[in-house]
Amino acid sequence: MALPSKMTVNLAEHSKDDRERLLAEIRQSLGARSIVLIGLMGAGKTAVGRRLANRLDLPFVDADTEIEQAAGQSIKEIFAEHGEDYFREGERKVIARLLEGGPQVLATGGGAYMNPQTRDAIKAHGLSVWLKADLRVLMKRVQRRDHRPLLVNADPEAVMKKLMAERNPVYAEADITVESREVPHDVIVTAVTDALSAKLGCGGAARRKGRR
Ligand code: S3P
Repeated sequence: MALPSKMTVNLAEHSKDDRERLLAEIRQSLGARSIVLIGLMGAGKTAVGRRLANRLDLPFVDADTEIEQAAGQSIKEIFAEHGEDYFREGERKVIARLLEGGPQVLATGGGAYMNPQTRDAIKAHGLSVWLKADLRVLMKRVQRRDHRPLLVNADPEAVMKKLMAERNPVYAEADITVESREVPHDVIVTAVTDALSAKLGCGGAARRKGRR
């Protein structure tokens, strides 16, 4: 039996005005904090982050791009010429600087949140969102390109499995976790804004309106 339409109403079906109000409330509650996307390579941090920023009308910043600009080299070149430790030090410094620039949406490289100082800085200046994806989804996405030095080797899937085992327990410290599934990016963006509004205690006006 089909449910009466009133019973199927959810957030996504709220009026455009209600949605705009909720997004404005999220923006306001953030203050100067950044929304920081964390998670493994291929989780969709940049693609989702860009759309999330657009939806919230906030600036979008990609930490990897900023590192490349600061160094005048691609990440692949930095790894090849100076090694991973040098990259990690640059990554820590650049993210510390970027976190001063909120409110904004900040996408970080997969290893950034593993640095304890970066984690502390994100906790102090941001709200972290872990985009969590399973191995199959991650591998499908990273296989499309070869710009990630950690995966340029004979068995990228074994590397990814190892990184999942090491990193997932640390990513789990994030304020919010959203499953990054094989659905259009905008669906994930809505899941993130829903989770953010719940975390920040937004949506009171819409809830009150719903009770009337
Ligand atoms: C890395 C992830 C990359 C980039 C670098 C190292 C990692 O960023 O920072 O290749 O350690 O997971 P993406 O997660 O955006 O691919």
